[in-house]
Amino acid sequence: MSLDELIARFDVDDPAFIADPYPVLDELREATPIFWNEAAGHWTLTRFSDVQEALRDRRLGRSYSHLYSHASLGRPEPDARWAAFQQHERWSLLCLEPPDHTRIRRLVAKVFTPRAVAAMRPALEGFADELLDTCRARGEFELLRDYAQPYSVAVICSMLGVPRADTQLLLDWSHAIVKMYELSTTDAVRSAANTAAAEYIEYTKALIADKRRAPDGLLISELVRVEDEGDTLTEDEIVSTTMVLVEAGHEATVNTLGNGMRAIMRHPGSWQRVVSGDVPARVAVEEMLRWDPPLHLFERWVLEEGVEIAGQRLEIGQEVAMLFGAAQRDPRRFDDARRFDIGRGDTAHIGFGGGIHFCVGAPLARQEIEVSVAGLAARFPALEMVAEPTYEPNFVIRGLTALRLRG
Ligand code: HEM
Repeated sequence: MSLDELIARFDVDDPAFIADPYPVLDELREATPIFWNEAAGHWTLTRFSDVQEALRDRRLGRSYSHLYSHASLGRPEPDARWAAFQQHERWSLLCLEPPDHTRIRRLVAKVFTPRAVAAMRPALEGFADELLDTCRARGEFELLRDYAQPYSVAVICSMLGVPRADTQLLLDWSHAIVKMYELSTTDAVRSAANTAAAEYIEYTKALIADKRRAPDGLLISELVRVEDEGDTLTEDEIVSTTMVLVEAGHEATVNTLGNGMRAIMRHPGSWQRVVSGDVPARVAVEEMLRWDPPLHLFERWVLEEGVEIAGQRLEIGQEVAMLFGAAQRDPRRFDDARRFDIGRGDTAHIGFGGGIHFCVGAPLARQEIEVSVAGLAARFPALEMVAEPTYEPNFVIRGLTALRLRG
């Protein structure tokens, strides 16, 4: 098969590709380290070492607007119809580059500390126990709807200080907003994302006002209070930060649990190794993140002249995509890379990114998934899938529609 034919099979609208993208990703990675995706209008990196280097390369950025106007790079102005979505992203860490990124990340890191995350453990265990006991009482349950979604949103909301009664609202907004990040979307989906962003902004502003009046020591309250050498966060910065913490954290954690538990169930002996304690839940988490990752593609803009990656010269203003699903199964980096090995425990994968945008929530996510896997193993030693699940029709955010289990 020619390279062009192979690239044509990288088709995010093809249900067969979405169901199992790995044969195409494997072939592409072995055929070439970089290719031009005409449909998306960007270069695409396939191999682990190039992706890892790109993540750390300061000549590439998640945005370019701190250096160039849209017009100067020949790019369209942002679509005014999606203004609320753009406003919600304006101060998101994921949309900033230094010096704004450095400043806001330093302030967020002062609040989102390893200590604050470790202190959450009893709360995480409490949420997991409550939900998993209900699942056990049912015998058969749907992991995402009955457990992972309410669990992950309860965790982030309790950390932020969002009232428990409002968690469903946040969940619905987050689901609608993140659809904007897919490679292929419709105006109806964009419009729903924009409406959700507008509502989310209003809600968060009201919450910030509440926290100013009555601080509770939780994250939003602390973001209002935090100071670094006289520097503080503005209301707009707190709105974006709060929203990125929910969006970035929630879907990826839910999908790691779904994709990872499916992988465990499909690989005989894996679950027994966790249940027996041969593989601690903490170790199992890493292979769940590597083998069928919840996030498949991240992009960067070329900000400087003279950038060459994988032998390809790139121009200022060009976009480079990194294929995590291809890189995470690169045999140049991982022994027997295609094999799901629940005991592999390789923590140096790129599931949480790298460089200055490395996932702020990685310690929380690892702890959330570990507590969940341990809770499942303690209650369901003979866990099995009721039916083979299907994937949502998305490529970038890869997750199951449902995962029916019985123990
Ligand atoms: C298994 C779950 C998770 C995965 C796989 C994941 C993955 C990632 C990745 C790959 C990035 C880097 C993106 C890039 O370089 O372009 C990132 C950034 C980020 N993540 Fe996560 N994440 C997870 C959970 C969380 C959680 C629980 C939170 C917060 C509660 C969170 C908050 C963030 C934030 C704020 C950033 C942006 C950091 C920056 O730009 O400086 N993530 N995440």
